[in-house]
Amino acid sequence: MSALFKPGANTSFRVTLVVLALLLGGGLVAGPMIYVRSPYFTQQQDPVDQPVQFDHRHHVGDEGIDCRYCHSLVEKAPNAGVPPTSVCLNCHEQIWNKSPKLAPVRESYFADRPIVWNKVNKLPHFVYFNHSIHLKQGVGCVTCHGRIDEMALVEKAQPLTMGWCLECHRNPERFLRPREEITSMTFRPRDQLALGRALKDQYHVHTRVSCTTCHR
Ligand code: HEC
Ligand code: HEC
Ligand code: HEC
Ligand code: HEC
Ligand code: HEC
Repeated sequence: MSALFKPGANTSFRVTLVVLALLLGGGLVAGPMIYVRSPYFTQQQDPVDQPVQFDHRHHVGDEGIDCRYCHSLVEKAPNAGVPPTSVCLNCHEQIWNKSPKLAPVRESYFADRPIVWNKVNKLPHFVYFNHSIHLKQGVGCVTCHGRIDEMALVEKAQPLTMGWCLECHRNPERFLRPREEITSMTFRPRDQLALGRALKDQYHVHTRVSCTTCHR
């Protein structure tokens, strides 16, 4: 039997085995690691269907309504919150008050039953997050939510993974903006780093990377 194989066959067989194992093993480990960080897994850029065709483009883009008119808790509380139906009626009692697209809104209002919106951005329950501190320290909505003013249906603009949070927490100066600009969708400084460094001092922003910042 042994004559069938040249001397050294054993070695090349072993080398082949090792290479295969590395390739397969590598693929088996790296594959899922890449997958869970891909936009597909993190459900980025997937628009979520909603009970009412609410369109931020019309309300924020065309009408120029400030985010805080509807997401009024965002500077005071951990959650930004979605507006109650009564806020919609502030305008829609007068305008578009016959629109079929607004029928579920009128129904909700008169039946005193809140509209149940589907959540787009969602962190696991073991992660602590707080909107108000980010806004107070000069992080804009657009940095985490993207161009909401250009979305017909809200989609998740960022992966919201731990690595993503830390990328900013390690070097916040790359993203900070003046507090007056936190809801602006188009603010773009000439020199982000210089501005960010100055604001970091002025607002007393620190790098926050200890585990208990977000896992408490
Ligand atoms: C006229 C009211 C109104 C204004 C103004 C408004 N929003 Fe909204 N927003 C809503 C409603 C209603 C929803 C829930 C339906 C949806 O997801 O589209 C929502 C949803 C969202 C969501 C997704 C929530 C989730 O489930 O993750 C984000 C993010 C958001 N808004 C950000 C903004 C930003 C940023 C601005 C300002 C640039 C803004 N909104 C202005 C009413 C408003
Ligand atoms: C500050 C005033 C204002 C508020 C508050 C407001 N809207 Fe509107 N909405 C408008 C205006 C103005 C238009 C028409 C925009 C256009 O066609 O360009 C509109 C259009 C719409 C339309 C499209 C109607 C159609 O037939 O095309 C829907 C749906 C809608 N709004 C839902 C909502 C909901 C839901 C809320 C509450 C979360 C809300 N709006 C709050 C001003 C407002
Ligand atoms: C530092 C990143 C960051 C900034 C800045 C930020 N958000 Fe969020 N937002 C998030 C995350 C993360 C979630 C998901 C929170 C969760 O599931 O607990 C979220 C959720 C939301 C929601 C869904 C309701 C809720 O509170 O869970 C709305 C609405 C929203 N954000 C609006 C805004 C608006 C408006 C601004 C600016 C005024 C803003 N966000 C600024 C990261 C951010
Ligand atoms: C673009 C920048 C940015 C992103 C992205 C970001 N943060 Fe922050 N975060 C900050 C800044 C700036 C502060 C304020 C730090 C300070 O005041 O020293 C902060 C503060 C916090 C605090 C309060 C810390 C404390 O001790 O009071 C928590 C909690 C937090 N972030 C959680 C998160 C989580 C969870 C994510 C990801 C889902 C996230 N952040 C994404 C910039 C960011
Ligand atoms: C700035 C916020 C932030 C800090 C600081 C942070 N984490 Fe996380 N962590 C998150 C978020 C957001 C998730 C959920 C998303 C994800 O899985 O990436 C997470 C998920 C996790 C998970 C779940 C497993 C996983 O990868 O999905 C573990 C374990 C974890 N963190 C451990 C730690 C440890 C240990 C530290 C300190 C060295 C730490 N975290 C610091 C935000 C943070």
